[in-house]
Amino acid sequence: MKKGIFISLEGIEGTGKSTQAKLLSEYLLKKGYKTVLTQEPGGTLISSQIRKVLLSTKHHRMDYMAELLLYNAARIQHIKEKILPALNSGKVVITDRFSDSTIAYQGYGRGISLKLIDALDRIATSGMRPDLTILLDLDVETGLRRNKRINKRDRLELEDVEFHKKVREGFLELAAMEPERIKLVKASKGIDEVHREIVKIVEKGLK
Ligand code: TMP
Repeated sequence: MKKGIFISLEGIEGTGKSTQAKLLSEYLLKKGYKTVLTQEPGGTLISSQIRKVLLSTKHHRMDYMAELLLYNAARIQHIKEKILPALNSGKVVITDRFSDSTIAYQGYGRGISLKLIDALDRIATSGMRPDLTILLDLDVETGLRRNKRINKRDRLELEDVEFHKKVREGFLELAAMEPERIKLVKASKGIDEVHREIVKIVEKGLK
């Protein structure tokens, strides 16, 4: 019964996803679209609690499978409580991360079987995918340096450069497999330039 439009922003650490998601949401609101800005893991009370568990640096002993299941649990709650109701009432939903992050981080990064990730994703999302995904791409060193500068350090950001390189490769492979849905934007440019590029892609998609 979906009438709205579902957009996700994806990318490794430090690509400016959250800033761009906010700018896009403000742009669409100004244009008169009823817009909901949300994030994963998060977006609802329960999912935000799960986010705290996932990102706490105290939880360095978390098992990879427990991690995978928690991301999915947060997503189930997010879809049910927030994403679907908004889409069903015709809104534009912009989410800072969705299932592609699980494939890139837990699949390519952690090395969990992509088949298993896909099977769990079907349970969590019933195969739901964004209509459009903006992949902000940046080299890993620059991304991690940017986050260090703003003192953003959560459990996953503390992983080594090699881990983040695998995650980036994962995202790029996904974009190559689904060029219709996933649009690549270089995040090395300035905030305004990246925003303009995203707006162009989204405007085209809205038509
Ligand atoms: P962020 O929203 O601040 O980027 O933090 C979320 C962190 O969680 C980030 O390091 C990416 C990671 N993540 C996964 O590993 N798997 C997922 O499915 C999602 C949504 C995020």
